[in-house]
Amino acid sequence: MKIIPYSCQSISEEDIQVVVAVLRSACLTQGPFINQFESEFAKKVGAKYAVAVNSGTAALHICYMALGLTTGDELITTPNTFVATSNAALYCGAIPVFADIFLDTGLIDPAEVIKHITPRTRAISPVDFAGCPADLAAIKAIADRYKLKVIQDASHSLGARYRDSTVGDCAYSDMTVFSFHPVKPITTGEGGMVTTNDETLYKALLKLRTHGITKENLINSPGPWYYEMTDLGYNYRMTDLQAAMGSSQLKKLDSFIAARRRIASQYNDAFCKLEFVRPLGESPDCESGYHLYVLSLNFLKLKKSRAEVMVYLRERGVGSQVHYIPVYHHPYYMEKFKDQPKLAGMEGYYATALSIPIFPTMTDVDVVTVIDAVASLGG
Ligand SMILES: Cc1ncc(COP(=O)(O)O)c(C=O)c1O
Repeated sequence: MKIIPYSCQSISEEDIQVVVAVLRSACLTQGPFINQFESEFAKKVGAKYAVAVNSGTAALHICYMALGLTTGDELITTPNTFVATSNAALYCGAIPVFADIFLDTGLIDPAEVIKHITPRTRAISPVDFAGCPADLAAIKAIADRYKLKVIQDASHSLGARYRDSTVGDCAYSDMTVFSFHPVKPITTGEGGMVTTNDETLYKALLKLRTHGITKENLINSPGPWYYEMTDLGYNYRMTDLQAAMGSSQLKKLDSFIAARRRIASQYNDAFCKLEFVRPLGESPDCESGYHLYVLSLNFLKLKKSRAEVMVYLRERGVGSQVHYIPVYHHPYYMEKFKDQPKLAGMEGYYATALSIPIFPTMTDVDVVTVIDAVASLGG
């Protein structure tokens, strides 16, 4: 039986052909497609600069490094995220501090962020959970007041809007991070991007993604072959194969988001009639990209556990997943942060959440299959 996954990539023949063309070209990496993808991306989101890397995790890591995050520094983030958001702080020796979320949106609560600010706090990383930006104006106001930096983790929200701003334009952040993993709004297989309007950060990011090596302002250049390593960086470079695919996918972003929003609206109409389910709210300030469609299910009313519901849906051809296990539940974090309390909003949200399929190539029949399967949970 066909199982509709909770998400999946949408690849066209055009995407395949651009990758094949790069394979036949002279440069598989460090070639012209990187600059092209970066400038198209920056233009699309309205940022001055874009830096392509080989994953969203790498993007987060070089952002934190560019800010000089180091041992003992604290970074406030949400526990309702993929582990990469906080792991990248640990790579720098910094301490991720988890602020609680709103139960109805899954987004970080700015009032909770304030409670966690200490003299060691350096930055805040809100996550645009499920494609809906967090309360960025409130977070920026806090950052301005306490002289903190904001790294917006927009891995879910390329193509979304917040008030008058396009996600990625950095109107409310110092840097914004994207992931191009296959389930994300666009994909390059693996890949990521940072956007910023700050030239100093831009130059630091460029260097950090390629070993800390530069060919600019050389201290002692004996000839054209020469380069210098001035910082400890990484090989976080994206290939030209990925960049060409990214450019091709970017052309389809608007239609991808429109398709996701259309499916979400069909779901909203169907599920508002069911008493055992409440879809995750779209915050009034945002136009979500619907990277995920999350249901809050009343398992008591259904007389089924979440695991049983997942099996039931699967038997009807519907895949599902949970986003996210609170980061501090993972054994590594429990061991490292023994005093971490359980956060009420996060725990309440996690107890009822289930993501159901949403992706641009879902057919009308797929959407009806999902709606019928969810509706039939009620008996
Ligand atoms: C919110 C969030 N941040 C960061 C990442 C890391 O991105 P990548 O898988 O491209 O390293 C992901 C990917 O799953 C994510 O969902």
